[in-house]
Amino acid sequence: MAVISTSGLARTFSTRQGPVEAVRGIDLRVDPGEILGFLGPNGAGKTTTLRMLTTLLAPTGGAATVAGCDLVADPAGVRRAVGYVAQSGGVDPHVSVREELVTQGRLYRLTRAQAVARADELAADLGLDAVMDRRTAALSGGQRRRLDIAMGLAHRPAVLFLDEPTTGLDPASRAGLWDLVRRLRDEHGTTVFLTTHYLDEADALADRIVVVDRGVVAADGTPEALKQAHGGSAQATLQDTFLAITGRGPAPVDSTPVAV
Ligand SMILES: Nc1ncnc2c1ncn2[C@@H]1O[C@H](COP(=O)(O)OP(=O)(O)OP(=O)(O)O)[C@@H](O)[C@H]1O
Ligand SMILES: [Mg+2]
Repeated sequence: MAVISTSGLARTFSTRQGPVEAVRGIDLRVDPGEILGFLGPNGAGKTTTLRMLTTLLAPTGGAATVAGCDLVADPAGVRRAVGYVAQSGGVDPHVSVREELVTQGRLYRLTRAQAVARADELAADLGLDAVMDRRTAALSGGQRRRLDIAMGLAHRPAVLFLDEPTTGLDPASRAGLWDLVRRLRDEHGTTVFLTTHYLDEADALADRIVVVDRGVVAADGTPEALKQAHGGSAQATLQDTFLAITGRGPAPVDSTPVAV
């Protein structure tokens, strides 16, 4: 049973300049415990898709279920199952890291004692121990990003959506986040749906990659299969493969199509 399943999922925005078809029909299935790399050029529709799958934005077409709950018929069920780390996080600048984490746990109905214990656990996992009593406004960019991620994990979601989680993180923090994502999958069976512009990150972390372009799925497969099919060989870099798929780079020398 797929934990995420979408069919023709679409979103058109009405603007004064006319309709913007941000997502034009996405079909995908994600299995439980899979780490999915959701890639695509700027403006491809990644964030819009994530906002729909986390019920923050209503679809204008198609259908989807997340953790067995229909996006439109049972948004509360979807919300219980998912954690979402937005591309640009919103935290209260006036409170401490600890208060912010405890409040988040309380929002998800943990008791105060549970929320306090959970905040300490998250701080250890995300390397935030040393800044727990600092106001969030005083955090560095990377520390704030780690707090965003901790907030998304507060209720131990079955499905975690991460929108460019490592943008602005230093190399050690990035490696730490990769470890955490793998541990979530291996120890808790968490499904992780992740967007990134770092193709080395997708290559290292993702079990499967979906490339979206102009609001539709342009390619779907394991990193190896995509390299073989679109990059010319299994030794191709994911960068060249991505550029070939999105038509933003030179075509591969041997461009014989291969089914993925
Ligand atoms: N609220 C909105 N109103 C109008 N257009 C929007 C709105 N939100 C997004 N768009 C447009 O929809 C398209 C897809 O945007 P989206 O944020 O989903 O892209 P993305 O793939 O996440 O890009 P990036 O890699 O830059 O984060 C863009 O052309 C964007 O300008
Ligand atoms: Mg985005």
